Amino acid sequence: MRAVVVPSHGDSSAMEVTEVPDPVPGPGEVLVEVAASGVNFIDVYHREGRYPLPPPRVVGSEGAGTVSAVGDGVTDIVVGDRVGWVNILGSYAEKAVIPAARAIVLPGGVSPEVAAAVLLQGLTTHYLTHSTHEIRQGDDVLVHAAAGGMGLLLTQVAKLRGARVLGTVSTAEKEKLARAAGADEVFGYDGFAECVKDLTGSGVHVVYDGVGAATFEGSLASLRPRGLLALYGAASGPVPPFDLQRLNQAGGLFVTRPSLGWYTSTREELLARADELFGWVASGALKVHVSQRYPLEDVRRAHDDLEARRTTGKVLLIP
Ligand SMILES: NC(=O)c1ccc[n+]([C@@H]2O[C@H](COP(=O)([O-])OP(=O)(O)OC[C@H]3O[C@@H](n4cnc5c(N)ncnc54)[C@H](OP(=O)(O)O)[C@@H]3O)[C@@H](O)[C@H]2O)c1
Repeated sequence: MRAVVVPSHGDSSAMEVTEVPDPVPGPGEVLVEVAASGVNFIDVYHREGRYPLPPPRVVGSEGAGTVSAVGDGVTDIVVGDRVGWVNILGSYAEKAVIPAARAIVLPGGVSPEVAAAVLLQGLTTHYLTHSTHEIRQGDDVLVHAAAGGMGLLLTQVAKLRGARVLGTVSTAEKEKLARAAGADEVFGYDGFAECVKDLTGSGVHVVYDGVGAATFEGSLASLRPRGLLALYGAASGPVPPFDLQRLNQAGGLFVTRPSLGWYTSTREELLARADELFGWVASGALKVHVSQRYPLEDVRRAHDDLEARRTTGKVLLIP
């Protein structure tokens, strides 16, 4: 099969599309014909070597497709089932082996392409808005990169929960997308904390910050006393070490650095979040915006575009 491998870590040119042996499902695993793979920042970190990439060094942590074989002991998933997955390496490929315990069977109204476009960022949005901070009616919420993959989903779900959403974006085109997703106020990054204070008085209840280094200080300054900064990513680079006493001086603030694994650590939690997410998608309450689809051969361009802020919404690889 064709797959994207990283023989040695580096920039996007480190990735090669090459023939590798078909993977074989072991006990408790299923083999999937991949319909689409999601492209995510975590794939960049695996490519660069910031996160470990074990052999066979095939990149990609999110995908969906149709089960073509099952290993010994798999009883609840059968050949022909359509499944999706997150946080399992190897999805930038024509076939992938997934532990049955992590496979999410897709409901009728959700295609594999939509599942590959919404699972990782949608489950992340679910835990950030329902668990990390349970958004309440009337909350003021700041969403950075509001036209990005995470940003468009966070904006829509925060609106579903009755929040007022303030968003940052870098271009007029991105502003249009963020507003179409429901953002009430959208502005650029320059002086965003002042904008937030002007609009809210005391600041927002929660900031969802996946940008990291470039926005961290402004995010803290945007919070009301006892507000929460959910620093869930670092698209602009990691936040440097930080003196915790500053949280006291700024109003008894909270900062957390969450990730999806901690919020989907049991099969029950994974499936409960996926059920609700797919329910929103099937009912039309949550729109999935796929901005770019690339063939596997264009994987380098896909990473370059994501890293250079040239994408909006979701980016997919089609094997
Ligand atoms: N913790 C978790 O569980 C979890 C799960 C999923 C994703 N994430 C994180 O969430 C973040 C967003 O992921 P995503 O896939 O949805 O990406 P994305 O938001 O679609 O793309 C990143 C966006 O960040 C903004 N940005 C601001 N400064 C940037 C810079 N210096 N370099 C690059 N981008 C910059 C850009 O939007 P503007 O042009 O509008 O500024 C860019 O489009 C990533 O850090 C990712 O690692 C975390």
